[in-house]
Amino acid sequence: MKPLRLTINGAAVSAMVEPRTSLADFLREQQLLTGTHIGCEHGVCGACTLLIDDAPARSCITLALACEGRQVRTIEGLDEDPVAARLRAAFKAEHGLQCGYCTPGMLVTARDIVRRLPDADAARIRLELSGNLCRCTGYAGIVRAIARVLAEGAAEPRAAAAPLPALAARATPVAASTAPSSAAARTTAPTLPGGQGLRQSIRLALPLATVWPALRDPALIASAVPGVSLDPGATTDRIAGRMVAALGPMRAQFAGSARLSYDDAAHAGEIAGEGRDRASGTQLRARAEFRAVAEASERTRIDLTVAYVLQGPLAQFSRGAVVDAFAEELAQQVARNLEARLRGAPAPEPAPLRAGALLWRVIRARLRRLFRR
Ligand code: FES
Ligand code: FES
Repeated sequence: MKPLRLTINGAAVSAMVEPRTSLADFLREQQLLTGTHIGCEHGVCGACTLLIDDAPARSCITLALACEGRQVRTIEGLDEDPVAARLRAAFKAEHGLQCGYCTPGMLVTARDIVRRLPDADAARIRLELSGNLCRCTGYAGIVRAIARVLAEGAAEPRAAAAPLPALAARATPVAASTAPSSAAARTTAPTLPGGQGLRQSIRLALPLATVWPALRDPALIASAVPGVSLDPGATTDRIAGRMVAALGPMRAQFAGSARLSYDDAAHAGEIAGEGRDRASGTQLRARAEFRAVAEASERTRIDLTVAYVLQGPLAQFSRGAVVDAFAEELAQQVARNLEARLRGAPAPEPAPLRAGALLWRVIRARLRRLFRR
């Protein structure tokens, strides 16, 4: 058992929990807040959706201990919420529930849609709801209910969803390097409304004079990122391409485009773009800022700050801790590939990003750390 302190529905809570207890089980069994329902327990059905720091999250795949110091809000905590109240009335008026099992999760997601996307049409509502399954298949009434509340007008100011905020002001300096060459080190990720953020530093045992021209070559950079290929016709300020990722038998192919800009004097730049996996309808919007810094005559550090919003069915895999660890592993791989390419290695054959293998390395490293304690 380990101590846990967090806020649940506005009240400070301290408890002892087993490290493997999910947030859903902790809430239902220890806090007796049974409004959070459990369906698949795999992060797929959305029945257990609640709010962590005011953003929807799957409580069945969130460890209770990961919520140390966080603000958790369950369906019980939305009794007095004005948007939730309007949604409850609209669900009733539009026959938005049958057995009601999915309803707590649906209401949490619906509230997020109303606050974040006041202009959403029926198609967008359906897209946003794609991570919540209704076993009674009563989607038409649910979509009508959300559209009804949106048509009545927003009850509170729109939560920022787009455009993505500038990141430069949020950047914090990366600590001086003690890492070996080609290492990627994680620092605190930025907090972004409507999305998530990552910050990574990649270190290369090469001088800035070699690294900076490479960063201005989109084809070279793309060849260092597993699963990425560029369409013909890339220019210095605009690229289009795709990223293929395989997780076991599942395969996602994000096709999209991005704008590039560089500041040669500061050895910095920005990439902003969006992509879509047509098979699942998942959309990804991202903005990355990078800066190359000479750490010594033969060493360069690349600081990378990424803000992204993932929406649609694959967003269920976008859980903070997992994404952070995954990004760290991916950054290390990119650093190795980039350094090899800059030392003259040929471009590798295009191959999908093997997300399963990367995840396995992340899990293995975490288990090693756990058993070392
Ligand atoms: S029970 Fe959590 S997503 Fe299904
Ligand atoms: S109303 Fe029965 S599961 Fe949605």
